[in-house]
Amino acid sequence: MTRRILVTGGAGYIGSHVVRQLGEAGQYIVVLDNLTKGFREAVLYGELVVGDTGDRDLVSRLLVEHSIDTVMHFAALTIVPDSVADPLEYYRNNTCSTRNLLECSARAGVKYFVFSSTAAVYGMPAEPLATEDTPTVPINPYGTSKLMSEWMLRDLAIASDLRYVALRYFNVAGCDPEGRIGQSTPAATLLIKVACEVAVGKRDSLSIFGTDYPTTDGTGVRDYIHVEDLADAHLKALNYLERGGESTTLNCGYGHGFSVREVIEAVEKASGEQLAVVESPRRAGDPPSLIAGADRIRSVLGWSPRYDDIDLIVNTALLWERKLAARSD
Ligand code: UD1
Repeated sequence: MTRRILVTGGAGYIGSHVVRQLGEAGQYIVVLDNLTKGFREAVLYGELVVGDTGDRDLVSRLLVEHSIDTVMHFAALTIVPDSVADPLEYYRNNTCSTRNLLECSARAGVKYFVFSSTAAVYGMPAEPLATEDTPTVPINPYGTSKLMSEWMLRDLAIASDLRYVALRYFNVAGCDPEGRIGQSTPAATLLIKVACEVAVGKRDSLSIFGTDYPTTDGTGVRDYIHVEDLADAHLKALNYLERGGESTTLNCGYGHGFSVREVIEAVEKASGEQLAVVESPRRAGDPPSLIAGADRIRSVLGWSPRYDDIDLIVNTALLWERKLAARSD
């Protein structure tokens, strides 16, 4: 059935990919984005309203005016070191704004809520494989700000008719395979984006943060999930809620990982360029290996990935990076 969906942060990297898939599925979409990190041109479907998720009057008005029954909440700050430097900004923007959105949603009778959470809620798990039952012990304000939002959702769902799916993203990468939208974040820190920037000549070199981890080749291992598969998980989450599914929290990853060196090799293969690499010390707060226990999302949502291939992920990321490079020439 066609839903009426408010997408916060729909002009951002992940939100814009979800908006595209929702639009292709014929859903009614209103995007709320303050454009501090997002891009107007990334919103391919629906109406874009420029504003803040923390703006109670605006959010309440949008929910009522558009008869919204579903909220997908992406708007957030996501840079871990920034969250350490300015924790209150992260709690204001990520936690307080979510509280505001939840209050407005409950008042307006919103039925379904899909929330962008993060593997950062696990902190430094004792085992590389984190399942949804792994204790949540975030080690930075970013992870804590998201975990607090999960708790508010959990409690509100008990106290009201609202039902939700919280999705804990692992390492999201890649872009729309048709190259219409992508990851445009300036001063990017995420590995695949940074490596692609080196491949197109936007940066001189790439640092490998740590070569002495207890992993197969000494570098950090992560579970990289293609943004298209992640976006599809949001649509599946909505279907699940519509079918009467109970509120739940699910990991979003593939269940296996790649090392930094393996990612670099994939980017070299895709680009035909040898990347200049600087072996550097470990980055503070990085676990050696973080892999999603990814069984539950498959069984609960009936989700199955279509882009579980590091070469495909890297190819789409590179396609987008080349577009950005061509634009700035
Ligand atoms: C980061 C966040 C994490 C968040 C996730 C998704 C940090 C410390 N962690 O995950 O909380 O949930 O994004 O937004 O910011 N690496 C290099 N060189 C680089 C960049 C990264 O060697 O230039 C390595 C890292 O040490 C790590 C791996 O590549 O082993 C992936 O790093 P990155 O892409 O930054 O993501 P995470 O830190 O895993």
